[in-house]
Amino acid sequence: MSEPTNPEVDVLDAQTPVVPHPTDEAGIDTAVQAALAAFAAATNLDELKTARLAHTGEKSPLSLANRSIGKLDKSEKAVAGKLMGASRGRVNKALAARTEVLEAEDAARILVEETVDVTAAPRRRRAGARHPLSTLQDRVSDIFVGMGWEIAEGPEVESEWFNFDALNFAPDHPAREMQDTFFIDPVDSHLLLRTHTSPVQVRSMLEREVPIYVLCPGRVYRTDELDATHTPVFHQFEGLAIDKNLTMADLRGTLEHFARQMFGEDASIRLRPNFFPFTEPSAELDIWHPGAKGGPRWIEWGGCGMVNPNVLRAAGIDPEEYSGFAFGMGVERTLMFRNEVPDMHDMIEGDIRFSEHFGMEI
Ligand code: DAH
Repeated sequence: MSEPTNPEVDVLDAQTPVVPHPTDEAGIDTAVQAALAAFAAATNLDELKTARLAHTGEKSPLSLANRSIGKLDKSEKAVAGKLMGASRGRVNKALAARTEVLEAEDAARILVEETVDVTAAPRRRRAGARHPLSTLQDRVSDIFVGMGWEIAEGPEVESEWFNFDALNFAPDHPAREMQDTFFIDPVDSHLLLRTHTSPVQVRSMLEREVPIYVLCPGRVYRTDELDATHTPVFHQFEGLAIDKNLTMADLRGTLEHFARQMFGEDASIRLRPNFFPFTEPSAELDIWHPGAKGGPRWIEWGGCGMVNPNVLRAAGIDPEEYSGFAFGMGVERTLMFRNEVPDMHDMIEGDIRFSEHFGMEI
């Protein structure tokens, strides 16, 4: 007996698997068994999808056989319809069963793979810390802002006039030589890296209306070699008060309040006569540091004095009407004796462990 031929076969290319005749029980069963075997062999949903397309897709033998029913004689149609219906039913049932199994396996695998161990120790993120010089500058600023003072700033590349002349350093004054200055090329630009924050005094007087109460924190430069107590780049904060009837007593009271805020109620200050071209009289400021390492003692802290009338005049303020006081301290030096940092290198090397030691507040 010859196999019944399928009319669809003619239009299929050589790659297409043999399409059984829709009444060919053995041929259809072979196609069904192939489908069932492929579904069973699929080990995951992707493989099952490939098997499904191959065995139930539009170009699968079973679909093509099913589609060819329409062209059969009436007598064959009923037989073919019944055979194809039952066969496709078996295939679909097997597919559904295998899908269910593989979906369950997939869900179980995801549960395992994506498990979050809520009891696991978290990996610690280092939070970092601000540099203690920054926090100390902020703290000093806060104390003065708390007294109603304002924060003033000036450029680090400064003109020689603001840094020296306006501050009453005579052109040949030996005081100019006291500070080793980085001048900026060309020399006749008369620009330099400011050697102190005092030029911000003059800038503030020119920019603001009297009365003036400003604190000027900032970076300054000198041609010092880096060692345990010196660095060519360091920080100062400068205070300036200009008002009617200000006296040395106001300066002393302000500095004493400041010292107590910084070093505790037991702190006090003393002034020793000194010389600065921009203040007259001038004084060296010492602080009685109750918490000093090795016991309470006097520590040299900075310079201060009553603003020299020549400086007031350079800034367009009448010294007959107004007077003022000023002071300046080093931030690094303050951090050294306040927090017992013996070596300047620690402050400038940028090792996070140094900053972390201070935390976010000092
Ligand atoms: N500018 C001085 C320095 O760098 C410090 C100083 C002294 C500032 C006396 C002042 C002052 O405001 O009145 O050494």
